[in-house]
Amino acid sequence: MNLISGKPLLALDLIARSSIDVPRNEIYYALRPGGCEKHSVSVCIPRFDLRGIGALFRCLSSELTLRPIGFIRTHKQVKFQARHQPLEIEPEQNVLELLPGSNYEQALHDLTGFSRVWLVWWFHRNTGWRPHVMPPRGPAKRRGVFATRSPHRPNPLGLTPVQLIKIEGRRMILGACDLVDGTPVFDIKPYIPAYDAFPDASAGWIDEVDAALAVPPQFTVEFSPLAVAQAEWLLADWQIDFRPRLIEILARDPSPHRTRRITSRRGKAEFIIGCGAWRAVFTVGPQVVSVQAMEPGYPSRFLNDPKRADGLPDRAAQWAFLARWPEREA
Ligand SMILES: C[S@@+](CC[C@H](N)C(=O)[O-])C[C@H]1O[C@@H](n2cnc3c(N)ncnc32)[C@H](O)[C@@H]1O
Repeated sequence: MNLISGKPLLALDLIARSSIDVPRNEIYYALRPGGCEKHSVSVCIPRFDLRGIGALFRCLSSELTLRPIGFIRTHKQVKFQARHQPLEIEPEQNVLELLPGSNYEQALHDLTGFSRVWLVWWFHRNTGWRPHVMPPRGPAKRRGVFATRSPHRPNPLGLTPVQLIKIEGRRMILGACDLVDGTPVFDIKPYIPAYDAFPDASAGWIDEVDAALAVPPQFTVEFSPLAVAQAEWLLADWQIDFRPRLIEILARDPSPHRTRRITSRRGKAEFIIGCGAWRAVFTVGPQVVSVQAMEPGYPSRFLNDPKRADGLPDRAAQWAFLARWPEREA
C-alpha cells in the first residue's frame, strides 16, 4: 500500500518528521484529516504494522456522540452558587434521575455497598474553551487548562466524586456536588479507594495555592440594611440566595479579578462582583468588606430588548427587582 500517494488515505497529509526523536522501529507521521478538522494530530505508527491505520483514521476523523443517561436535580440554579469542588461537610442532598426506557435501573444493580460514585457529566452551560484559563482561587495567574479543573475545556466533561446515599429505582440520592440544577450526566462509576485515591500525590500549583489560603480569611463581610432587605426579598420571593458564596469569596480577597468577576466601578470607590445573573456592589475598608446593594446583572434596556430577552436568566425576577428598587444612576 502506497501511503504517501494516497488511497485509501487520500485525505491525509503524511509527513515524515525526521526532526522528532522517535523509536527506530517506528515511523512518525503527522496526520491531518482533509479539511474537516482545524488542527493536525500527530501519531506514532509502528513501521511494519499498519493494520490499525483504518481504525486510527476513523477515530481521528469521526466523533463520539454521547447521550445523557440522566439529569441531576440540585438546589443550584446558577453556576455562581455551585462550589468549585463539592464540600463534604455540606449537608445537602441531590437527586440524579436516570432516564426511563433504557434499563438503567438494572445498570445500577450491585452499586449498593459503594459509599461513593464518580459522575461524568457535561459542562452544558459553557461554550468554547481556552488553552489558558485563570482559576478562581489564588493569584490572578493564567494556567494551562489541562492543569486545572476549569469548565472551559475542549471536551467539556466534568468529573465529580459524590457520596451515594441511597438508590430508589432510577433515582440516586447523592451528597454534596458541584453541578448546577439540570446538568446532563453521561456516566456513573464506582469510586474505589484502592484505585482512585492517592493521598500522597503532589498537586503542583494547587499545593502552593492551598498553602497560601491556609491562613484564616482576612476580611469580615457586612451587609447594609438595603442589601439585607434585597437579599431577603430575593430569597423569599424568588428562592435566589447567593450570600454564602459571596461572603466566602469576599472574605478571602475582594480585589479585582477576572474569573471571580470583581471589577472596580469607574470613578467611584466601589467594586462590583458578578453573582450569576446578579451583582453585588461593595466597598472595602481595613479588614471589612461592606456590601452596599444588590443589582440585576442586566440593565433594563437589555431586559426590554425582545432579541436578547429570551436568553436572559432570572429575567422575571430582575424585572420585579427593578420595579421595587429602580436602577441607580451609574
Ligand atoms: C471547577 S468545575 C469542577 C467540576 C468537576 N468537579 C471537575 O473537576 O471536573 C465546577 C464548577 O463548574 C460550574 N458548573 C457546574 N455545573 C455546570 C454546568 N452544567 N455547565 C457549566 N458549568 C457548570 C460551576 O461554576 C462549578 O463551580
